[in-house]
Amino acid sequence: MIDTHCHLNKEDYDDVNKVIENMKDNIMIVSTASPNDLKEVIDLIETHKNIYATIGIHPEFADTYTEDDLKQVEKYLNHPKVVGIGEIGLDYHYTKENKEKQEELFRKQIILANKYKKTIVIHTRDAMLDTYNILKENKNKNIKCNFHCYSGSLEMAKEIIKLNGTFGIGGVLTFKNEKKLKEIVKELDLKYFLLETDSPYLTPEPFRGQKNEPKNIEYVAKKIAEIKKISYKKVIEATTENAIYQFDMKNSL
Ligand code: NI
Repeated sequence: MIDTHCHLNKEDYDDVNKVIENMKDNIMIVSTASPNDLKEVIDLIETHKNIYATIGIHPEFADTYTEDDLKQVEKYLNHPKVVGIGEIGLDYHYTKENKEKQEELFRKQIILANKYKKTIVIHTRDAMLDTYNILKENKNKNIKCNFHCYSGSLEMAKEIIKLNGTFGIGGVLTFKNEKKLKEIVKELDLKYFLLETDSPYLTPEPFRGQKNEPKNIEYVAKKIAEIKKISYKKVIEATTENAIYQFDMKNSL
């Protein structure tokens, strides 16, 4: 299994080594959010064979990041275990007053993705249409993108597929009241889906309310199997293959 999007900051877990140990036969792609995460994430990928990373600056830091932070991201994009740029995008949930700054940071990082031919991992919250438009205008056609923890509509999902896009599916799919995402999983081909946990957040049922960790990805896979009426094994095989393609990992496994 590949957890294509998680956070493994030491400070978030009682024992991060145990969390990593629990995924020892599987792969994790750890994502940075804050520029301050970068060093810790690079350490993780250099000390664990089964951990890879996507790096980038989350829109939450649009007002506070420095040019040097961006230079650091660019520097590590050449690292053989950095498989994408992310999570990047727009977040209007808490504020859209700094909309221009968020857009500028997003655009700069899409340009980096084009330059280094890296997959883009998108974070978008209450900003789907702007995110889509900026991506469409700035991303080179051949660059792949993944909407992590997708929460948009089925119609938008079909447009995103035309942009070489896929969808990260996590714990939200297992929530009892979640209907839209279940519909999307049912309607679209399995090839467009990646498994993710977004640990330590968004814990799937039956552990909702507790801290999440990558091993819980199996509950997301089980839910996809149930919705699509296929075997759990098939979901694991297909989503693993999807992730390897999405992040060009074939030669580095
Ligand atoms: Ni995340």
